[in-house]
Amino acid sequence: MAKDGEKGGWKEYIWNPRTREFLGRTASSWGLIFLFYVAFYTFLAGLFVLTMYVMLQTLDDHTPTRQDRLTTPGMVIRPKADETFEIVYSIQKTESWDMYAQALDKFLAPYNNTAQVQKNDECTPDQYFLQEDSGDVKNNPKRSCQFNRTLLEECSGINDRYYGYQEGKPCIIIKMNRVIGMFPGKDGQAPFVTCAAKRYKVGKDEWREDTEKIGELRYFPPNGTFNLMYYPYYGKKAQVNYSQPLVAVKFLNITTNEDVNIECKINSNNIPTGHERDKFAGKVSFKLRINTNN
Ligand SMILES: *[C@@H]1O[C@H](CO)[C@@H](O)[C@H](O)[C@H]1NC(C)=O
Ligand SMILES: *[C@@H]1O[C@H](CO)[C@@H](O)[C@H](O)[C@H]1NC(C)=O
Ligand SMILES: *[C@@H]1O[C@H](CO)[C@@H](O)[C@H](O)[C@H]1NC(C)=O
Ligand SMILES: *[C@@H]1O[C@H](CO)[C@@H](O)[C@H](O)[C@H]1NC(C)=O
Ligand SMILES: *[C@@H]1O[C@H](CO)[C@@H](O)[C@H](O)[C@H]1NC(C)=O
Repeated sequence: MAKDGEKGGWKEYIWNPRTREFLGRTASSWGLIFLFYVAFYTFLAGLFVLTMYVMLQTLDDHTPTRQDRLTTPGMVIRPKADETFEIVYSIQKTESWDMYAQALDKFLAPYNNTAQVQKNDECTPDQYFLQEDSGDVKNNPKRSCQFNRTLLEECSGINDRYYGYQEGKPCIIIKMNRVIGMFPGKDGQAPFVTCAAKRYKVGKDEWREDTEKIGELRYFPPNGTFNLMYYPYYGKKAQVNYSQPLVAVKFLNITTNEDVNIECKINSNNIPTGHERDKFAGKVSFKLRINTNN
């Protein structure tokens, strides 16, 4: 009989016809719980929407809200070397350097004078091109300065379609990554690029550099400068037609049939290079090897 009573108790717990309780609660009690949760989740959703709205109001479409103040731009070279940063070819094998010339053709196409004249302004050189917003009034879209392909002279690919690769005097093009709001250089002194032999490790506590092998270098534009008029950069949305300035370096007498390790860096009195946090900041290194049959 005890068994029957137990069974009845369980059934009664689910639905008790006497007190009209379902799972121990009356309909109105269940209703109140349901209402409570509806109100509670509505409140949470409202809070989320409100927070998002307030946060989005503080965002500016044109400048990132947070940016590392000491951002040091990275540097990259073209033609794009593979992950190992090696440019290796044989003068006699056209197919071994033709791809480098083609890569440069493609990279420089937007710098064609005609393209630059169409989309960019002729700016006053040697000074920053300031286009600040006045308070909440956005001065957008902002203009950008022309960087004519012809500025790269012998490395422009216009007179010498192969950028010197076919005669063992290759051009390497260097650009500095964009950093919004950066004012490189100081006191009217533009930042410039220099390339030199890279010190590299050959054994424990043993270092070497290929200084004798690097030969004479020529920079385009002269002195390898990034003119001040290309700065500051205001961001992709504000400055839609921005063309990053370039520096080309031509290796006039590099030793052939040997690896030459090169490092190019930016020289600017306010861009730190290679600090502990980012060893690659402000510099780029690569290996150049030109093979000849004789
Ligand atoms: C850019 O100029 C080069 C050399 O003058 C030419 O071969 C190429 O077709 C031009 N490219 C564009 C996109 O205008
Ligand atoms: C760029 O080249 C075009 C045509 O060759 C020329 O009219 C323009 O002045 C040049 N711009 C600069 C900044 O030198
Ligand atoms: C960007 O370039 C296009 C032509 O390609 C030009 O019509 C437009 O005015 C330029 N915009 C700015 C902000 O310089
Ligand atoms: C290049 O640098 C030298 C020495 O610092 C200077 O005399 C010359 O005017 C510079 N040339 C250009 C085009 O900036
Ligand atoms: C080129 O470099 C070699 C040594 O690697 C040197 O003997 C030669 O004089 C250099 N030529 C020129 C034109 O500088």
